[in-house]
Amino acid sequence: MKKWIENAVFYQIYPQSFKDSNGDGIGDFQGIISKLDYIKQTGFNAIWVNPCFESPFFDAGYDITDFYKTAPRYGSNEDIRKLFEEVHKRNMHIILDLVPAHTSHLHPWFKQSMRQEKNEYTDRYVWTDREGRNNVDGIQGVTGWLNAVSDRNGAVAVNFKACQPALNFGFAEITDIENDWQQKPSDEGPQKNIEEIKKIMSFWLDMGCDGFRVDMAGSLVKNDSEQEETIKIWQNINGYIHKKYPQAVTISEWGEPTRALRGGFDADFLLSFGPSYYMDLFRNEKVLDFDSDTHFFSKSGNGDLTNFKRAYEVFYEQAKKGGMVCVPSGNHDIPRLSTQLDEDEIKLAFVFLLTLPGAPFIYYGDEIGMKYIKDIPSKEGGYHRTGARTPMQWDKSLNAGFSAAPWDELYLPIDPDENRPCVEEQLKDETSIYNTVKRLLELRKMHSCLGNTADFEFVELSDDRYPLAYIRNDSKEKLLIVINPSNKSVECRKTEIGEVIFTIGEDYKNESDKMIVAPCSAFVAKLI
Ligand code: GLC
Ligand code: CA
Repeated sequence: MKKWIENAVFYQIYPQSFKDSNGDGIGDFQGIISKLDYIKQTGFNAIWVNPCFESPFFDAGYDITDFYKTAPRYGSNEDIRKLFEEVHKRNMHIILDLVPAHTSHLHPWFKQSMRQEKNEYTDRYVWTDREGRNNVDGIQGVTGWLNAVSDRNGAVAVNFKACQPALNFGFAEITDIENDWQQKPSDEGPQKNIEEIKKIMSFWLDMGCDGFRVDMAGSLVKNDSEQEETIKIWQNINGYIHKKYPQAVTISEWGEPTRALRGGFDADFLLSFGPSYYMDLFRNEKVLDFDSDTHFFSKSGNGDLTNFKRAYEVFYEQAKKGGMVCVPSGNHDIPRLSTQLDEDEIKLAFVFLLTLPGAPFIYYGDEIGMKYIKDIPSKEGGYHRTGARTPMQWDKSLNAGFSAAPWDELYLPIDPDENRPCVEEQLKDETSIYNTVKRLLELRKMHSCLGNTADFEFVELSDDRYPLAYIRNDSKEKLLIVINPSNKSVECRKTEIGEVIFTIGEDYKNESDKMIVAPCSAFVAKLI
C-alpha cells in the first residue's frame, strides 16, 4: 500500500511563534487552524508541529511533564483534536513531535525515580549506583550527569540539558563490570519504557494525528557505538506502530539514514550534526558569522559539495531499499537559511530543496526569507537558537499580524527591521521568495519525476565544482536540474537538452562544442 508520505511536502510549525489567536502573545492551535488555508495554498500538504505537550519549558517543550496532555498555552486536547480534523478536511496530514529519550526533571515519573525506596520508576531512568560515580568520558550517549539531586544515592544521566534526565533504554556494552548499575536493553526498566512509548504514540494516533517526528531518535541506548541496539528498539517500536496503524509515518531526528531507515523509520533528516555534510550547502561551521561564504549556495563560488554528494549517494542507496532522506530548509535548532544567503541565493537554494527526492521540509518563515535575529536574549533554553524562533511575519499590521498583544508581551520580539519580509507583500510580488517557492511546489506536483520517490542521480557537467546538476526521472519523464549559485558563468560539456520548464536567471547557451551556464541561475529542462 502506498503511504501518504510518498507525496508529502511538509511545513514545520514552531507553535509558540506561528499565530496567536487570543491575544496572549503566544501562538496556539486555533492560530494554526486559521492559517491552514495559507499553508495549503502555498502548496504544502503536510505539517510537523514542534512539541506542544505539558512542560515547564526549560527547553521550549522538549522537556515534557505529561506526554498525554497538550500544554494549556496552546489549547486543550480537544483543541488539538479539532486541529487534526481541520487538517484532514483540507486533505492534509499532520505529525507531532515525539520525545522518547528523556523527560522533564519535573515529570512525576522522575520524581518517583528520585526516591530512595524502590518503586515502579526506579529503573526507568539511567542512574548510577551511588552519588559521585559519573564517568562521563567513558560513556557514549550521555551528555552529563547530575549528582545528589535527591535522596537517592546515585547520579542520573542527562540526555541533553540538565532539565532532561535520560530515560533508561539500557547499555549496549557494560563497561563498569565491577558494579551492576548499567542495565541491558532487555531489562525490565528499558522494556517498560519501550511499551510506554508505544502507548504514547497510540494515544495520539487514535486521536487522529498522522505520525511523528522523533526527537534524538539515535540516543536511546547508551554505549551503543554502532547504534545496533538502538536500531533494534526502533525496529520493535516502528514494527508495532506500522502494523497497528499502516498509514502512520515516523521520521527520525537521527542524521544517519543508513542507520535510521534500518530501524524502520519512513524517513530520516540530514542535520547540522552527523556525517551528512549538510552544513556545506547553505551555511557553514561559522554559521553566526553573517559574511562567511564557503557554503555552496554562495555567489562567491567558494563552496564545494564533494563530501556532501558522496555522503548523499550512500544515504540514497539505503533509501532505495525503503524509506526517504529528507533535506530540510532549516529548523528550530539552527540559524535560518537567510543568515548567510541573500535573496537570490535563497531562491536557488529552494530550487535544490524542492527538486530533490525525499519529502521536502520547509521551516515556517523560510518561504518568505525571514531573518535570523542576532543577539536577542535566550528564551526557554533556546540560547543561540532563539534568533531562528521569532514570530511569523504575516502582514504590515500590529506585531506583523502575529498577535494582538502589546509588543512587550510577545513570546519573542518581532524582527525589528521595518523592511522585514511579510506574507502580505510577498504574495503580491511575482518575483518574491514566496512566489518562487510556490512555483516550485507547483512544478513538483505537476511532474511526478520530481516527487519524493522518483529516481535521482548526480551528473557532472563540468570539471569545476559549479554548477550542481542532477537528473530526476520515472517511467513518464526525465528532467535535468542545473543550479549555478556562483556569480560566474560556467563552461560545461555540451548536453542535449529539450524544453526548459523552469528558470531563475538566464539558464544556458549552447555553443558549438560546449554549454555555458549563466551566473546565479538555475533551470529545469526535459532531457531528450
Ligand atoms: C532535538 C531538538 C532540540 C532539543 C533537543 C532535546 O535536537 O530538535 O530542539 O533541544 O532535541 O530534546
Ligand atoms: Ca495564544
